[in-house]
Amino acid sequence: MPGTIAVAGAILLGIVALYFLKGYVFGEKITEPIDEAQLGDDSNFIERMASQTGTAEEYAIRIAREAKERYGVGVLVLDIQDQEMDKLDQLPEDCAAIFVMATYGEGEPTDNAVEFMEFFRSSDVAFSEGSTLNNLHYVALGLGNKTYEMYNETIKQLDERMQELGAQRIGQVGMCDDDASIEEDYLAWKDSTLEQLAQHMNLEEGNTGDISDFTITELEEIPDPSRVYHGEHHPRALSGTIGNHDARNPYPAPVATTYELFHEGVASRSCVHMEFDVKGSGLTYQHGDHLAVWPVNPESQVDRMLAVLGLLEKRHTVVSIKSLDPALAKVPFPQPTTYEAIFRYYLDINAHASRQALAAFVAFAPNIAAREKLEKLSKDKDLFLSQIADHGYKLGEVLQLVAGDSLRDEDLTSTTVWPIPFDRVISCVSRLTPRFYSISSSPKMSPDRIHITAVVLRYSPPQGTKSVFGLASNYLSSVKTQQNKESIGLEDVRHGTPNYHLNGPRDRHLDQDAGQFRVPIHVRRSTFRLPTSTKIPIIMVGPGTGVAPFRSFVQERVATALKAKEKLGADALKDWADITLYYGCRRREEDFLYEKEWQDYAEKLDHKFHLRVSLSREVFNEDGSKKYVQDLIWEDRAKLAEQILQQRAHVYICGEGKGMAQDVEHCLAKILGEAKGGGYDVGLAELKMLKDRHRLALDVWS
Ligand SMILES: Cc1cc2nc3c(=O)[nH]c(=O)nc-3n(C[C@H](O)[C@H](O)[C@H](O)COP(=O)(O)OP(=O)(O)OC[C@H]3O[C@@H](n4cnc5c(N)ncnc54)[C@H](O)[C@@H]3O)c2cc1C
Ligand SMILES: NC(=O)c1ccc[n+]([C@@H]2O[C@H](COP(=O)([O-])OP(=O)(O)OC[C@H]3O[C@@H](n4cnc5c(N)ncnc54)[C@H](OP(=O)(O)O)[C@@H]3O)[C@@H](O)[C@H]2O)c1
Ligand SMILES: Cc1cc2nc3c(=O)[nH]c(=O)nc-3n(C[C@H](O)[C@H](O)[C@H](O)COP(=O)(O)O)c2cc1C
Repeated sequence: MPGTIAVAGAILLGIVALYFLKGYVFGEKITEPIDEAQLGDDSNFIERMASQTGTAEEYAIRIAREAKERYGVGVLVLDIQDQEMDKLDQLPEDCAAIFVMATYGEGEPTDNAVEFMEFFRSSDVAFSEGSTLNNLHYVALGLGNKTYEMYNETIKQLDERMQELGAQRIGQVGMCDDDASIEEDYLAWKDSTLEQLAQHMNLEEGNTGDISDFTITELEEIPDPSRVYHGEHHPRALSGTIGNHDARNPYPAPVATTYELFHEGVASRSCVHMEFDVKGSGLTYQHGDHLAVWPVNPESQVDRMLAVLGLLEKRHTVVSIKSLDPALAKVPFPQPTTYEAIFRYYLDINAHASRQALAAFVAFAPNIAAREKLEKLSKDKDLFLSQIADHGYKLGEVLQLVAGDSLRDEDLTSTTVWPIPFDRVISCVSRLTPRFYSISSSPKMSPDRIHITAVVLRYSPPQGTKSVFGLASNYLSSVKTQQNKESIGLEDVRHGTPNYHLNGPRDRHLDQDAGQFRVPIHVRRSTFRLPTSTKIPIIMVGPGTGVAPFRSFVQERVATALKAKEKLGADALKDWADITLYYGCRRREEDFLYEKEWQDYAEKLDHKFHLRVSLSREVFNEDGSKKYVQDLIWEDRAKLAEQILQQRAHVYICGEGKGMAQDVEHCLAKILGEAKGGGYDVGLAELKMLKDRHRLALDVWS
């Protein structure tokens, strides 16, 4: 095996602020710098990952596993924050650094990579022995989304700067697109990159073969059942302690009220308004923040995975899980726990099956026919697409199909058992992550309640016959249905929604007497904020659920207005600037969100608030095309250009990123270009300047 590693102060990142070092303990942060002794003598790669919601972290671990399996080399996976960046020039020649970086905001690094990027970008960067990285060899993988203008900006900037500093890249910069398939982009990039890495470092394939990341021990005796995790995410949750809630310790918030926002019986979709009671929890929020909702998996998928792995009878068995290589793989959830809790709360078994997971399970097929089928599917991208992805099949379903089993829930007990070691399941299935919702209330109006506006996702896959149900939005919809004791008829748009276990770990998510459920949540801060001055015009564009944060913005201004009037009298708002909301939905009588509230807000704001509405399937342009928010914006172009260019208006766009947000930006660029007497490029430059000055902000998703 090639030489040893000698890194001091290696760097890495991760939203969870956990470190993958020796001596790692779940939930604890180890802050000492890394030294040679800690690393041992067999680590040849250092991976630094910048992740906000865990995808970059997951892919960093995947690269690490693969390098270890193929070449028998040690890989140290590290969080990019906190560490001593200036020692990067000490990485020996027979080591390489692998950077796995996601991009956020508008081309910004993830929270935990901000300091790292600032350090690297500074013109007077100083490492321990100078200002160059001539000895450093590195590999770069970026995670982004093409619907964002600044696609994979972080890894691009890192790579450019590394080159300037004299570091030598191995392979191409990998760029994964979350809008298409991170998985496929990663698979297309990694083989050639790993080969070039091996060539560069003189590594030989076949050194180790298949390796385990974890040991699993089924516990026959449980010394303290109160310490077993049944779906809780943090030690404090075991005792039901309230307080200190964040991304590691969500708050099980009582659902204060919840109702349907679309017109029932008319709309072909459902949209849930939900208010969470956060009084006494210590949770606070600001307008523009996001609420993270921690979903659970549907019972049918939980049972399917248990059945396929032959664990139906052992669902309540308590297991203890230890990492065999904490520098590389951490146990992705708290333990000891049960098989049932792992599939219900901790692993993402409801996502579409991934080709990589299928490849990892080929060796454990129950018979030769299943093995051959699975191998083909995992190797042939087109076959996988047409037979699996285009049907929206999930992992458990694929394993059943490949073994020739029925997918009907009632046939689960007779399904073929796959002898997959449980440690491989943990290694190959992503952990379940929270979903984010733009908060739709203002803390000035509802300090103790956080509102969200969630459209319920249900779609037909290109080739499937059955609907696919989005995980978290249908979980929220089920909470609403159960809490309000609603019945669902055959014609109801919710008919067929999967069944979720809503009572939570130890039944703590249901207050039987009050008939009230709890949902685990935490608040994520955002930079999507109103200007402080009420004299600056505000232009908000939010069709569909994109209106959510603007309800919060308008409520915020209403609360300020009411106070101002109380203090200054009836004329208090006379020098306030216009607040304009461009909203779009399909039809007034179908999906107009919060229709009755806007008039009330306008009155309280002395009609400084203007609502412009496009009804895309009811009111059309003269040429017969759909009239969208950007058509209204174009109609108002003279006024908008004046507000943006002369009155320094702040512009906000929220909602669907790929079509709507891009079309709206395109329209704004046209308007501003013309107003400035130039062309489209002039408008684009103006938009860029507005973004740089935080006068144009986007909160979009795909
Ligand atoms: C910052 C931010 C703010 C957000 N705010 C809101 C909000 O205010 N309101 C709101 O309703 N949502 C909002 N979302 C979206 C929300 O986070 C979830 O993504 C959404 O509710 C779907 O989650 P789910 O768990 O139900 O679906 P999942 O189970 O996560 O399924 C979603 C996945 O299904 C696939 N998919 C979706 N539609 C199709 C289709 N037609 N064909 C094929 N595949 C498809 C895609 O791969 C998609 O990623 C926001 C997202 C972000 C990032
Ligand atoms: N992450 C997720 O999975 C997630 C979560 C929420 C929403 N979404 C997706 O995001 C999209 C928006 O969802 P939504 O429910 O909030 O909104 P929506 O109800 O689908 O759309 C709101 C309005 O925007 C219009 N619209 C469509 N394309 C547009 C464009 N290019 N420019 C301007 N307006 C446009 C729609 O018109 P028409 O429909 O008549 O064309 C409709 O009038 C949907 O595709 C939805 O599936 C995804
Ligand atoms: C709010 C938000 C903003 C984003 N901004 C960008 C962006 O500006 N450029 C980009 O390429 N990707 C952007 N993305 C996509 C993420 O980089 C991508 O989803 C990535 O897989 C996230 O990795 P993580 O889970 O490790 O944080 C954004 C995603 C979200 C949710």
